[in-house]
Parts: sequence; C-alpha cells; structure tokens
Amino acid sequence: MGIFTKKTIEAPVVVPRHVAIVLDGNGRWAQKRGLPRTAGHAAGSENFRRIATYCRDIGMEHLTVYAFSTENWKRSEEEVSAIMGLLKKYLLEALEKMEKDRIRLNFFGDLSRIPEELQELANRTLETSTHYQGFQANVCLNYGGRDEILRAAKKFAADCAAGKCSPDDLNEAMFSGLLDSAGIPDPDLVIRPSGELRLSNFLLWQSAYSEFYFTDVLWPDFDEKELNKALAAYAQRDRRFGGVKKQ
Ligand code: IPE
Ligand code: IPE
Ligand code: MG
Repeated sequence: MGIFTKKTIEAPVVVPRHVAIVLDGNGRWAQKRGLPRTAGHAAGSENFRRIATYCRDIGMEHLTVYAFSTENWKRSEEEVSAIMGLLKKYLLEALEKMEKDRIRLNFFGDLSRIPEELQELANRTLETSTHYQGFQANVCLNYGGRDEILRAAKKFAADCAAGKCSPDDLNEAMFSGLLDSAGIPDPDLVIRPSGELRLSNFLLWQSAYSEFYFTDVLWPDFDEKELNKALAAYAQRDRRFGGVKKQ
C-alpha cells in the first residue's frame, strides 16, 4: 500500500470526446441498504461529482448526464422535491467551486417546468460557465428526447411562419442546431448502469451512431474503474457509420 492513500487507476487508452450516462439505479442502491430512495439520490449526486472530475482529468470534452426525465414527474412529490433539493445543493456548490474544479456546466431539457429558484440558479451557473474553458458537463433536467425534438420542430415552424426560413431550408445540421445540444458533438458512447436495457427517452436524435455500454452496476457504485471498463469496451468497437471496415 505504501504512501498511496488513493487506489491507483490506470488511465484509459482511448478517451472519447463525449460520453453520456443515464444516472440510473439510485433507488435500488438505497433499497439494498434499507435506506429511503432519497438517500440513493444523494449518493448518486456525490458520484456525479466524482465521475465528472475523473472525466475532466482524463481529457474528455463533454460528459452528458441524465438526471431527471420528462417522465420522472410521475414519482411521489416527496421524491421529486428531494431530487430538486439535491440539484439545488449541487449547483450552489458547483458555482462556488467552479474556478477550482474547472467543471463547466450546461443544461439540456425544458427548464421552464422546474422550480423557479432552480431555474435562476441554472442561469447563474450557465453565466459563470461562460468565463471558463475546457471540460463541460451537460446536465439533463426535465429532459426527454422526444420533447427536445418537438421543441426544435416548433422553433423551426415558428421561424418559417415569421418568414425567416422555408421548409426546404431544413437539413440535419440545421435541425441539430435547434436542439439543446446545439454545437456539441454527438455522444460517442452512451452508458446505462443498473441493468436496464433501454434508452428511456435519452438523446434520441444524438445517439443515432453512438456506441452503447450496459452494466448491472448501480449508478452510486459506478466508479472510475467501472468507467474505465466501459472505455476499454469502447476502444474495441469498430465504428463504421454505415461504411465498411478499414483494412
Ligand atoms: C435514477 O435512479 C435517478 C432518477 C431517475 C431521478 P432511480 O431513482 O431511477 O433508481 P431505480 O431505477 O429506482 O433503482
Ligand atoms: C431514466 O431512468 C431517467 C434518469 C435516470 C433520469 P428511469 O429510472 O426514469 O427510467 P425507467 O423508468 O426505468 O425507464
Ligand atoms: Mg430508474
């Protein structure tokens, strides 16, 4: 063990520009320990800080995390308000430590439905983030892939109605520019912990050519070593984008 207090983690061979993760399994993590679901969300939030720091350190450009979906409002008021409270706590800390942490934050999703106090905090976080460069974490809040596509379609239709463009102008690049992820490269790798084998409305447009990695590990237990396993699996993939394998 020697003088090392932290376990040594070997750096991954391949670091994708953009990794996206569904932060799933918080509830089951808590249940396994006889704790309330909200304790799982608190542990999940701590783990986000840990993994975001690691992604920054290995030179990733973007980490996008699915924190609250357009469908998650179906949960009890108690659980929803606990999640909103944790987000508030996280953003307050992130704002205070951004200079030291060098983790810029951005948001995907329809923020108009989240509590006003959180909206203001998100806007302040965005503003502060513009003063920094480098690694960026995109937090999906009240996010749904279908909702994002509909919002983009409405924006385009409104611009057409206002005479600013015509339907024939629309192409993939232009449509991408109307999404929450405008200007951000598509995720190279989408990770879903907790054993579920579905997207649950995450990045439907952007994941068209992403690689997928599924694991049974629950999000609060998904540490740097687990991420390295996902990155090692990614390094073995042959991304053809519809072409043929390079000889
Ligand atoms: C993910 O964990 C967090 C949110 C969806 C907000 P879950 O709360 O879905 O955890 P499980 O799937 O019930 O274990
Ligand atoms: C997806 O997880 C959404 C987030 C992690 C924010 P869910 O737990 O809501 O997804 P389902 O219900 O299992 O599909
Ligand atoms: Mg879940």
